[in-house]
Amino acid sequence: MATPVIVREKRLQGRKILLGVTGGIAAYKAALLVRLLKRSGAEVQVLMTEDAQRFITPLTLGTLSEREVLTDIFPENEQGSWTKHITLGRWADLFVIAPATAQTIARLAHGFSDSMLTVTALAARCPVLVCPAMDHDMFIHPAVQRNLGLLEELGYQLMQPEHGELASGLTGEGRMPEPEQILARIDQDLGTSENTGNDAAPTPSSKPLSGKHVLVTAGPTREPLDPVRIFTNPSTGTMGFALARAAVRLGADVTLVSGPSMLETPEGVSRVDVQTAAQMHAAVHEHADADVVIMAAAVADYTPSKKSESKLKKNGDRLTLELEPTVDILASLGKQKRDGQLLIGFALETDNGAASARSKLQRKRLDWIALNHANEPGAGFGPGTNRITLISKDGDEISLPTQSKEALALTMLQHIFVASEV
Ligand code: CTP
Repeated sequence: MATPVIVREKRLQGRKILLGVTGGIAAYKAALLVRLLKRSGAEVQVLMTEDAQRFITPLTLGTLSEREVLTDIFPENEQGSWTKHITLGRWADLFVIAPATAQTIARLAHGFSDSMLTVTALAARCPVLVCPAMDHDMFIHPAVQRNLGLLEELGYQLMQPEHGELASGLTGEGRMPEPEQILARIDQDLGTSENTGNDAAPTPSSKPLSGKHVLVTAGPTREPLDPVRIFTNPSTGTMGFALARAAVRLGADVTLVSGPSMLETPEGVSRVDVQTAAQMHAAVHEHADADVVIMAAAVADYTPSKKSESKLKKNGDRLTLELEPTVDILASLGKQKRDGQLLIGFALETDNGAASARSKLQRKRLDWIALNHANEPGAGFGPGTNRITLISKDGDEISLPTQSKEALALTMLQHIFVASEV
């Protein structure tokens, strides 16, 4: 039974939605979903798999969306347009796949790039919402359930199917939610629902950080022992780079101070490369008047007391090294924090996460701390996903589910800036 929703006029104005339709009987519901999205003001680009076109025609969805439906990675008679999936992956605010068949779920879970839909999902920088729809017995099969689990680990969002009458005539779980319910979920994910409060987030197109200077740090630091040996950690810089990109998207002028990282500088970001904690400290303090500082870097806590100018030779004996603490950059910023400045830190913890994060929040005089869990699958270091709990100095606690760092960065900033009324 559909949940009645009031289509508040144009609340999705300016929002860009990719709608992927795959080959299941529920594909017919995609027509109504496109209408609802269009009536709410969204721009909708439909992508269809080959099998989806057996259930509903591209002509129907193209007419309703007022855009040509994309079905092929290599469109005939169109030279030079094969990179459309990359452009679309960056264009969209949200990618919804409804209905998502067992076949497409398996392909997404294993990173296939064999259709316009799957290749665009790989290129998508926005959150991807998957709405599985299939027969009950298929839905509960361990292979499908395992693939859905993989999707969650990879940071995809899932909208659970409903219990009800299925196309096979059987009754069970597997029905795609009604388009009105999917629209309500889209509203929730984009922060455009009528129901504001803790879940609300400003629109990426509303540029709440316009005119603000945001300083982000990212990556590890490298503390040299001699010219060929360093102390470092496994940070890749992914979270910090994603935060820098998200801040640009929200309208900020962004400076990124980065330790060694292979990542490409996000568009519109001014980047300063450093190696050591001391260099990061100096670079950060050159921009310490920023309106918002986000310390996502994994700064080394210790550095060798003596740095040898020439390579240390081994002589087979046990070697004892003396390390001395590095300067705590964030704490130094906290000490000189000016009125109205927002200081955001990270806490990567293995034990007593929340208590330890709260103590860092207080000790370093932060406004927010993002707690992440070093030894949890799908979280912590690396290029993949992360799970974060945001804790504020006022006692707010917001749990953000496991998702890609790219999606998480935007959600995290949106939540912080709504709650902090920036
Ligand atoms: N940080 C910093 N300078 C340092 C060490 C950490 O600015 N020398 C920042 C990190 O960028 C992060 C926050 O402080 O935003 C917390 O870092 P974390 O390593 O979790 O905590 P520490 O303060 O180093 O405490 P501990 O290692 O004992 O958990």
